[in-house]
Amino acid sequence: METSLVILAAGKGTRMQSDLPKVLHQVAHAPLLAHAMRAGAALDPARTVVVAGHGAEAVAQAAEEENAQARVVLQQEQLGTGHAVMQAREAMAGFAGTVIVLYGDTPFITEATLQAMIAARADHDVVVLGFDTPQPGRYGRLKMDGDQLTAIVEFKDADAEERAITLCNSGVMACDATLLFDLLDRVSNDNASGEYYLTDIVELSRAAGKSATAVVCPQDETLGVDSRAGLARAEALFQDRARAELLELGVTLTAPDTVYLAHDTIIGRDVTVEPHVVFGPGVTVETGATIRAFSHLEGCHVSRGAVVGPYARLRPGAELAEDTRVGNFVEIKNATIAEGAKVNHLSYIGDASVGAGTNIGAGTITCNYDGFLKHHTEIGAGAFIGSNTMLVAPVKVGNNAMTASGSVITTDIPDGALALARARQDTKPGRALKLFDYLRARKQQQQKSKEQG
Ligand code: UD1
Repeated sequence: METSLVILAAGKGTRMQSDLPKVLHQVAHAPLLAHAMRAGAALDPARTVVVAGHGAEAVAQAAEEENAQARVVLQQEQLGTGHAVMQAREAMAGFAGTVIVLYGDTPFITEATLQAMIAARADHDVVVLGFDTPQPGRYGRLKMDGDQLTAIVEFKDADAEERAITLCNSGVMACDATLLFDLLDRVSNDNASGEYYLTDIVELSRAAGKSATAVVCPQDETLGVDSRAGLARAEALFQDRARAELLELGVTLTAPDTVYLAHDTIIGRDVTVEPHVVFGPGVTVETGATIRAFSHLEGCHVSRGAVVGPYARLRPGAELAEDTRVGNFVEIKNATIAEGAKVNHLSYIGDASVGAGTNIGAGTITCNYDGFLKHHTEIGAGAFIGSNTMLVAPVKVGNNAMTASGSVITTDIPDGALALARARQDTKPGRALKLFDYLRARKQQQQKSKEQG
């Protein structure tokens, strides 16, 4: 049976205290909405409809970035979860399979759980995802009779006996599409909140002689974000899971709790990641590389056998070939470092290419920016760049060329040439001793006049 998704993302999220719509707050560098869409995408849905309201334009953009086929519909006024799903009616016209309703602020529903709901749909018209908790708080309560879900009662509308129920509504629901919209037509807002509750379709379906049930999952999966504290909890949960997955895949994390991963971090087998490493979005690290402590990587690719850090920064477009070395206090941006090349100490390599086996001396800087435009530096293979060389781009250093330490290189260096671009040294024998004597005498004089004055 085909499935389609309706993802509710119209709420403002007042408790976030933010100008940004709630679903655009990020976990592991991806909006909550993208996480929710990805969770649902695991089912290969026929249609994905996002219901936007607050900040609709920005929400629509994020939805389209995640899935260009997603349709975004507008819920002008937020009149309740039932009303929100109603806005998807037109976008779902002609679809006769199962509609799964997800919340855009609930990022961690697993594929296995959604599959369990779909499996339950074989015997039931409505399937609700529940979780059991000793602290049910203000969640809607699931009233069960055997395997039949008879009603969902919102906390505000519940009596003491109902409030004592610990099986709660996560908000995720699977329902036959035609039935869903038929039932929603009958939902009223005659309740404690004056809202059109999606949850009312359970009782309505039962009254229509249909069958409803609940599938239960761990509470962690249903974690919804509605405050900054909740966002921090979601981030922590994501990190825990992502670290555990990497350990499972054969990555060594010396101190897992100190490593921060992005939603799309890819790390190969037998990579070692030392403590306090941060991965921004878009990082791939190949098998057998080592990322040493306190490094920060973003939008880059590290090949087999490379060693990065400690204290290295790889920015977007950094491309490290096999067996390269990038050492402490080195920043690399939009630059390729070819096989076996080394940039070991205190350097900035930006908008550049460094050839195979080349050694970049300590303190080397590619001066890539003139205040208006960025320029490229090309360094050949087997070159030796002396310490503290300034390479003023655009400039080329040939294969097997060399620069003298402290050089400011402004013109191209042919293959095999040595470039010296600094003032010649002038050594004056004995002058240092004279200078010391003179300075010592001055200091003594100064002290004397202070004592007298
Ligand atoms: C809802 C459920 C409750 C469940 C809880 C789980 C209903 C009536 N209640 O309550 O049983 O335990 O979720 O978190 O469904 N939204 C819209 N448009 C609206 C209203 C809501 O898009 O008009 C979106 C919100 O942005 C949010 C989600 O739907 O992502 C849930 O809405 P919220 O108001 O948080 O529902 P609860 O009252 O918590």
